[in-house]
Amino acid sequence: MASPIAILTLLCLSCMCSSSVALSSTNSESDPVPTPWPEQFHSILVMNYNGILQLIDLWYDWPNGRNFNIIQHQLGKLLYDLEWNNGTSFFYTLDSNRECRSAQLEVGILRPNWLDGATYLGQRHVDGFLCNVWQKVDFITYYEDVVTNRPVCWVFYTGREAHVMTFEVGAVLEDAKWQVPAYCFHNVTHPSLPQFSITSSAILVDGVLTGSMGL
Ligand SMILES: *[C@@H]1O[C@H](CO)[C@@H](O)[C@H](O)[C@H]1NC(C)=O
Ligand SMILES: *[C@@H]1O[C@H](CO)[C@@H](O)[C@H](O)[C@H]1NC(C)=O
Repeated sequence: MASPIAILTLLCLSCMCSSSVALSSTNSESDPVPTPWPEQFHSILVMNYNGILQLIDLWYDWPNGRNFNIIQHQLGKLLYDLEWNNGTSFFYTLDSNRECRSAQLEVGILRPNWLDGATYLGQRHVDGFLCNVWQKVDFITYYEDVVTNRPVCWVFYTGREAHVMTFEVGAVLEDAKWQVPAYCFHNVTHPSLPQFSITSSAILVDGVLTGSMGL
């Protein structure tokens, strides 16, 4: 007579088998799939939008439910774009202008697996790297290095390009740097700051990748 533990073990084994069958059948076309983002990383991005350049320090921190884009416009403003997974976002400067705009978005930050379900387009050379290329809901084209599986570049449907210059897996910005300045909680509006622009399939904050990508 089989012991309850043996029966449980059998049940679990059969679960594992059926899920592996299910996985292999969904991958039957054997197209490569995008590598999920690490739960925490730091990346320096060069953004190019028709020759308008920005340097972005991106701190992605999924376990703590937060995402930070520190955006240096060429010979211009240094802007801080801090997003929480509850949808609260702040966009501010830390200079004497003390500008801040906040928004309550309906979605939080991107999930590490936000590229799931993207359409595989094949391989291309981008920025000098051979990349696998995917498209996500007509909104973004994503290029990943075939050799290292690191992101190399992504291009928004608007033509705005993000080129990945560094990709430090596991890097975390210290808590004190996530502090929003007090003037963000005063009743001041700053029309000079970029508007949060919301589209039906995705949310863009000044063209920066954020929020739910139609998941
Ligand atoms: C979202 O989280 C942040 C950080 O914990 C907090 O400051 C903010 O008030 C929260 N927003 C809402 C709507 O709960
Ligand atoms: C901000 O302004 C709104 C509308 O004028 C007002 O209802 C609210 O109490 C103000 N909040 C603060 C913190 O002053």
